Amino acid sequence: MRESRLDRSPALRSLETATWQSGGLSGELSGRIQKPARWEMGILVAQRRIPSRVSGLGSITALDALYVALVSGFIGVPGLVSVRDHTVFRPVPTRRGMRVTEGGVELEVPGEQTEGIEEAVFYNPRQELNRDLTIATLRAYREREDRATSYLDAMTASGVRGVRAAADGWDVTCCDVDEEAVDLARENLERNDCEAATVEHWNVNALMHDSTFDVIDLDPFGTPMPFADAAFANCRDLLCVTATDTAPLCGAHFNSGVRSYSAVPRNTDYHAEMGVRILISALARSGARFDVGVEPILTHATSHYVRTYLELTHKPTAADAAIDELGQLYHCEDCLYREADPGLIADPLETCPHCGGNRMLTAGPVWLGAVQDSEFIAAVRDEIPYTFDTAPAARELCDTLAAELDEPTHYDQHKLCRNWGLPANAMDDFLADLREAGYAASRAHYGGTTFKTDASVGEIRAATEGNLD
Ligand SMILES: C[S@@+](CC[C@H](N)C(=O)[O-])C[C@H]1O[C@@H](n2cnc3c(N)ncnc32)[C@H](O)[C@@H]1O
Repeated sequence: MRESRLDRSPALRSLETATWQSGGLSGELSGRIQKPARWEMGILVAQRRIPSRVSGLGSITALDALYVALVSGFIGVPGLVSVRDHTVFRPVPTRRGMRVTEGGVELEVPGEQTEGIEEAVFYNPRQELNRDLTIATLRAYREREDRATSYLDAMTASGVRGVRAAADGWDVTCCDVDEEAVDLARENLERNDCEAATVEHWNVNALMHDSTFDVIDLDPFGTPMPFADAAFANCRDLLCVTATDTAPLCGAHFNSGVRSYSAVPRNTDYHAEMGVRILISALARSGARFDVGVEPILTHATSHYVRTYLELTHKPTAADAAIDELGQLYHCEDCLYREADPGLIADPLETCPHCGGNRMLTAGPVWLGAVQDSEFIAAVRDEIPYTFDTAPAARELCDTLAAELDEPTHYDQHKLCRNWGLPANAMDDFLADLREAGYAASRAHYGGTTFKTDASVGEIRAATEGNLD
């Protein structure tokens, strides 16, 4: 087990409850450490005092006793124990705004009255799942690439990502162009004893051209593309990207999508996935300009944003390989037939090969390659402690992502059935029929009625309609 869970977590200071495991035993501790824990010559000194309630102990070993001593305020040895995180505070209004806690860190954020409700400025609670998954991804990535130590929270706002990464042992730089955000991030880092982190008040494009980081996290308002070139110029290992401009990405705001992504997005029944593939295509083309190849290792479209984690390889051949993953999607608006066509040169279909209709759309260049690495996602899932507020949803999301077939588009069972004038049946039965007919089929994370298969739209109907009643 990594010692960093303990030694690098100043959030231990505010520990109220924690589950722990050691030597095959587990238990629960409750209480509050009054002062931060620190490492001295490899020994953790937790400066008093966490009254501990240890449950579930059949017998106690010497190691467990040592651990209990550690969290009770005495000593501990790195590597023997792990505290699986903890739940601490609920958002509390304060004189200056609001105090919020997330993943074991505590933040103070200015509040603002919106429609009579106090809302935190610079802090969006709806992105907590995104941030919980980011922390889990950083933990899993550190196991995959041990040279990765530095993390740039490129648009830091309240500093929440930077604080959480610093509390997890990353060498953190936070940046924001807004002076108020920079002050806030500094205060929040200090509040969590993360003074070693650096805060830059700068346009992050200048910072990224100037300095190298192992991991860069782009989390802007709207499209990330104005920051992509600078990120590829100097990011060594992992680029984490959020895009919140889903309407342009999926083709609903067509001109804006074309402008931002230098591609043609089309509004289809798989609109969130259109967004995923337009975004990664644009990022792959940006990376290629710097001879950097991208490999998406985790990607999700959740509520109103797309998030992707790209592992980078700095080689012209890797950039070529990424460009080879681009292509076009031909889509029939009548029967929902779709076809992927690799390559940068489109050869659009004028009529639908399935229904003969002429309402065909062409989207591209889109990323046709894999957007997940199932093994990595399983590792990420294991790094989501139950005490993260979004743990159940985040773990379920990881399970679905890991099992999702590597196909460039998904279907929506209800839309297909509506199109066929047939009632939908239970999703599990529907997928079982596809598998029985010899096709691969999986659920997709885009919604409860979405799925992926290697069957064409005609083959799907033939395989399933017997049981649609
Ligand atoms: C969506 S917020 C970031 C939210 C934050 N990462 C989180 O997880 O809560 C976007 C931030 O980007 C900052 N920003 C916008 N343009 C920037 C630029 N060119 N350089 C640095 N920061 C920028 C804004 O001031 C704002 O604080």
